[in-house]
Amino acid sequence: MAETAKLTLGDKTYELPIHVGTENERSIDITNLRAETGYITHDPGYGNTGSCLSAITFIDGEKGILRYRGIPIEELAEKSTFLEVAYLLIVGNLPKAGELSTFTESIRRHTMIHEDFKAFFGALPKDAHPMASCSAAVGALSTFYPDSLDPRDQRQVEISIHRTLAKFPTLAAYAYKHSIGQPFMYPKNSLDYVGNFLYMMFGNPCEEYEVDPVIEKAIDLLLILHADHEQNCSTSSVRLVGSSKVNIFGAISAGINALWGPLHGGANQQVIEMLAAIRDEGVTGREFVERAKTRNDTSRLMGFGHRVYKNFDPRAKIIKKACFDVLDKLGVHSKMLEIAVELEEIALKDDYFVERKLYPNVDFYSGVIYNAIGTPSNMFTALFALGRMPGWIAQWSELHRDTEFKIGRPRQTYIGEPLTAYTPIAER
Ligand code: CMC
Repeated sequence: MAETAKLTLGDKTYELPIHVGTENERSIDITNLRAETGYITHDPGYGNTGSCLSAITFIDGEKGILRYRGIPIEELAEKSTFLEVAYLLIVGNLPKAGELSTFTESIRRHTMIHEDFKAFFGALPKDAHPMASCSAAVGALSTFYPDSLDPRDQRQVEISIHRTLAKFPTLAAYAYKHSIGQPFMYPKNSLDYVGNFLYMMFGNPCEEYEVDPVIEKAIDLLLILHADHEQNCSTSSVRLVGSSKVNIFGAISAGINALWGPLHGGANQQVIEMLAAIRDEGVTGREFVERAKTRNDTSRLMGFGHRVYKNFDPRAKIIKKACFDVLDKLGVHSKMLEIAVELEEIALKDDYFVERKLYPNVDFYSGVIYNAIGTPSNMFTALFALGRMPGWIAQWSELHRDTEFKIGRPRQTYIGEPLTAYTPIAER
């Protein structure tokens, strides 16, 4: 007999089905709640709401576990590559050698963007934030590729997925080049995915650019660690927007905007700016941590805390170690890394952070690496978006295959004025 939950409202009791996940996670199915009882649920911030059944990513926030398609993030970080992880997330299993080379080859061959994109970027102000440019540019892909917009056509979906993955590095690099007034660099498809991105970002037409393998490997690792994180704010946005059956470019453009916010992916830029401010203003780590605890002070300890992790974010552990390795290999001494380590040590022993189970998250150390390789801070979140692309795509695709597919449409409890007559302007 399947497990159920009982809900008593007045003198009536309702039985609600329970879903049990692979890892024994349990959810109460309230699909028919309103139809049967007239009630809805109230859950601001959706902290207790499961919006779907998903087979992509598993997180146990209490234990600090993250797995893509069942594989621990630690193993993927050590043994895999970003494009292999992209395949794993999107297709659902690790590719065989031939499948990976066909996939990689297809991504490699779709990197170029329409020449008119130059005019598109040219129309944007130079000081536009790259995340604004990136979301506009991904939205604009739907204007350049009207032949692959139908989410019900499998071939069109496959082409648009490959286009999105392949062209986003080019678009992000163009957004950056535009902001600094340098010529756009056409992709060089003899390079690997990350090398090509670095070439388009940091190369220029006047000089040879050699991809540094240490930097290439570090960015590949960061992309793997950012590739998916189940139903976070931007992914839920992709799913919600996608549930209107808009094309994939429109849904992902929405996800990029959601990611930009400082409480989400935008935190990586905020962290480095926080570390730089501490360095430049001569504030001590202790003083800053005290400030971050003050309720009326807006300066939170950025890069700390997480809705799901109430333990170490496993990604943060890997990134912290990579941070030391990469800076060591590059021979970079970073005052900001020292400050970050000091802040972490203070916060992890401080009652405020201990009681609230606030640990460093994925954004705490990533910016130190980006900074050390010369990435401007306003590009950090675009790099997060580059990494998250396979996750958004996988979640969008899963949504469209879901037998329970429905347009997303939360309800509300209205607390405004009761029925009110219109007052003519002269009588107000
Ligand atoms: N510094 C100081 N206090 C904090 C912090 C922080 N970084 N994070 C949470 N708190 C406090 C918060 O004030 C609240 O205290 P109280 O119970 O006294 O009201 C308590 O901890 C719970 O915080 P919350 O905001 O209710 O928790 P949430 O689950 O709604 O928010 C969060 C999670 C990530 C938005 C939040 O921890 C935060 O703002 N962190 C800083 C921004 C950040 O690093 N974001 C990146 C998140 S990880 C990557 C990603 O998702 O993109």
